[in-house]
Amino acid sequence: MGRTIAIFLTVLMITAALTAAGVTADEKIPDTITIEKAQAEKPAVVFPHGDHAKKFDCLKCHHKAASKDEVASCFKCHGVDPDAPDPSVASAKENPFHIRCRGCHKEQGLGPSKCSGCHRE
Ligand code: HEC
Ligand code: HEC
Ligand code: HEC
Ligand code: HEC
Repeated sequence: MGRTIAIFLTVLMITAALTAAGVTADEKIPDTITIEKAQAEKPAVVFPHGDHAKKFDCLKCHHKAASKDEVASCFKCHGVDPDAPDPSVASAKENPFHIRCRGCHKEQGLGPSKCSGCHRE
């Protein structure tokens, strides 16, 4: 009986710790982000970041981050580091956003994959 209670209390404590961590992390998660570093040809992309961050693992997109609390802007590397795919090209296979964003939309059959679905005037 004592053991059951101990396990129950441990579970409660872990849940409380995770909830507390979730609250602090959530405060730092941007809701809507306008991605607009490169707009030589196409209008900026209004990205519902908060909705995506609720549905998907942070590190699926923030692929170089050690953890979800150490996320950096994609533009820290992309467009700077010659080894990182260039966000200013149109190619579906070379633009990091086309690969990641459009790639997932096509794979899931949800979310925009037409140019004007993301690049809205
Ligand atoms: C799922 C969303 C999405 C779709 C669909 C999409 N793009 Fe993009 N595209 C982006 C994002 C995000 C960027 C980076 C924007 C920035 O940094 O300004 C980008 C960048 C670009 C750029 C380089 C920046 C510029 O304006 O010169 C071009 C060109 C481009 N896209 C063309 C296209 C074309 C053509 C299509 C359709 C075949 C398309 N995109 C479909 C999200 C998308
Ligand atoms: C579907 C892809 C995707 C998911 C999932 C995602 N993010 Fe992002 N996040 C982005 C993009 C794209 C940007 C903005 C582009 C840039 O880096 O400037 C961004 C920007 C951010 C920024 C601002 C970075 C800065 O320095 O400008 C933070 C903080 C952040 N995300 C945290 C998170 C956290 C925490 C999660 C998970 C709970 C998460 N993101 C999930 C794609 C994503
Ligand atoms: C710390 C630097 C850095 C940051 C931050 C970063 N990337 Fe990358 N990314 C790279 C490098 C370098 C590569 C080349 C292949 C590799 O090393 O993984 C790459 C490759 C990619 C690729 C092609 C390979 C693959 O994984 O499919 C995509 C797509 C991509 N990055 C998207 C993003 C997006 C979207 C963000 C922001 C949410 C981001 N990256 C943030 C450095 C970075
Ligand atoms: C892992 C999968 C995944 C990735 C990566 C992803 N998306 Fe999405 N996105 C979705 C899904 C699924 C939906 C549809 C959500 C819905 O209909 O409720 C969506 C919807 C959207 C919408 C439409 C929202 C609306 O209210 O109409 C936009 C715009 C969008 N995504 C932009 C982006 C951009 C820009 C990126 C990259 C920075 C991105 N997405 C990366 C899965 C993804």
